[in-house]
Amino acid sequence: MADKTIDELCASLIEKREKATQGGGAKAIAKQHEKGKMTARERIDAVLDPGSFVEIDEFVEHRCVNFGLEKTIFPGDGVVTGYGTIDGRIVYVFSQDFTVMGGSLGEMHAKKICKVLDLALTNGAPCIGINDSGGARIQEAVDALSGYGNIFFRNVKASGVIPQFSIIAGPCAGGAVYSPALTDFVFMVDKVGIMHITGPAVIKSVTGEDVTSEQIGGARAHNATSGCAHFFANNEAECYAQVRKVMSYLPSNNMEEPPFVETGDDPARMEVSLREMVPTNPNKGYDVREVIKKVVDNGDFCEVQELWARNIVTGFARVGGRVIGIIANQASYMAGCLDIDASDKASRHIRICDAFNLPIVTFEDVPGYLPGLNQEMGGIIRHGAKLLYAYSEATSPKITIVLRKAYGGSYLGMCSKDLGADVVLAWPQAQIAVMGAEGAANIIFRKDIEAAEDKAATRAQKIEEYKEAFANPFCAASRGFVDRVILPEETRPALYQALVMTESKSELRPKRKHGILPH
Ligand code: HXC
Repeated sequence: MADKTIDELCASLIEKREKATQGGGAKAIAKQHEKGKMTARERIDAVLDPGSFVEIDEFVEHRCVNFGLEKTIFPGDGVVTGYGTIDGRIVYVFSQDFTVMGGSLGEMHAKKICKVLDLALTNGAPCIGINDSGGARIQEAVDALSGYGNIFFRNVKASGVIPQFSIIAGPCAGGAVYSPALTDFVFMVDKVGIMHITGPAVIKSVTGEDVTSEQIGGARAHNATSGCAHFFANNEAECYAQVRKVMSYLPSNNMEEPPFVETGDDPARMEVSLREMVPTNPNKGYDVREVIKKVVDNGDFCEVQELWARNIVTGFARVGGRVIGIIANQASYMAGCLDIDASDKASRHIRICDAFNLPIVTFEDVPGYLPGLNQEMGGIIRHGAKLLYAYSEATSPKITIVLRKAYGGSYLGMCSKDLGADVVLAWPQAQIAVMGAEGAANIIFRKDIEAAEDKAATRAQKIEEYKEAFANPFCAASRGFVDRVILPEETRPALYQALVMTESKSELRPKRKHGILPH
């Protein structure tokens, strides 16, 4: 047989490529679109810079011969993998192709995902996984399970070294959910993404409960109730824009600094409107996000887990172009108290910021821990401990701004000097004390109040005495627990100065394998 010409070989390659890009074929693609879903390749194009995607392993095929699967071969094996750029920075990506055997994961499909995870880790660049899959490919049995195990192992190895993003843009069920759960940020698309361990039919047969997929696994359920997702998107385009935005705050790996961006907002800008934002009456609410927006560059605040544990606010922003991670008590929701979910949410965000060298800025206005049987028996002790642990463990610059209340254990829990805050700033209405004035006066002046003829007047007078002594920032400042008492309008310049001052912070801790995080 005569050798083929180079033109024939090239034509054959082009044809093979064409076939590979068609996934499960035109009918399956049409079905995908009918469901309101993009295809695996369209998704990659939507998240990466235009034209930057380089595909690898497009000719990988499965080698399963069970149940006639040897007759069903699709080049690429149901997942599109490769690399490209976001804002010019390299990222690795895999996108499961539901049009090929329901995006199910077998041995070779998993190997492709593992290859990009390995490349991402070796080259120190983020990895984005787009999940749309019927789960373990049933015909491939234990090979499929092993595939998941290999992915989990790599997710953990890469944790804290490179940023890892998971997008849930279709079904993600059973043990498959644990890869996203091991990554840093889970993005879910409303009415498209579903994530659960066991589905409605299994739940019905085991517990008798009638539930819908949306109820147990939808984007809203995981963003607002379970806390398993971090970003809610109304549609896929919005989701990919969110991914790009979050990426803009993170370095490519833990050895790099977060990306500086010239924002054009003067770091010395005084924001006089801040004076009126936090009422001096400690019982009055306000939205701390409005305070944050006034302080950061151009009011641009990227909130993480916006819908869950709303008594604490977490997110990213820039000050003078420098990225900061933000933790803030939300006075307008449950008075900003700390509870189980708030402790979990904040401690995780602190650890993400610390892993990727982001300064941690805390806006504090906290009345204490939420009382209650549910909280105590739900383990607020061990959950609350995570917050102390995360702040104490963090070696990134830590800057705390006491806006108003800072009471008792929660004062420590929101990154006091004692937990290693590098800079503590306080506003004039700050109250740093064991508890609020009324509670304190009722305890320490109980006998005086009971003995008084006019109990109400005596109580009021004692409350005033306590307020005078402790309900201010100066008692803490006199001991050096507060570095500077500032005017509210000075917050932005003071924060910027603190960021510059701590820029080259370096703190070494005793050598160990790892600490034992409270669970
Ligand atoms: C092999 C699968 C598959 C799977 C779907 N398909 N899931 N093939 N293994 N796990 C195939 C279907 O047979 C079908 O093939 C095609 O993909 C599209 O599926 P449909 O059912 O037509 O799509 P849809 O109606 O949209 O339903 C999607 C679905 C459903 C809800 C995901 O397919 C489903 O329930 N699949 C099984 C889910 C499951 O139980 N997986 C195992 C989970 S346990 P044809 O040829 O007809 O087009 C698990 C363990 C992981 O994953 C453990 C990790 C440690």
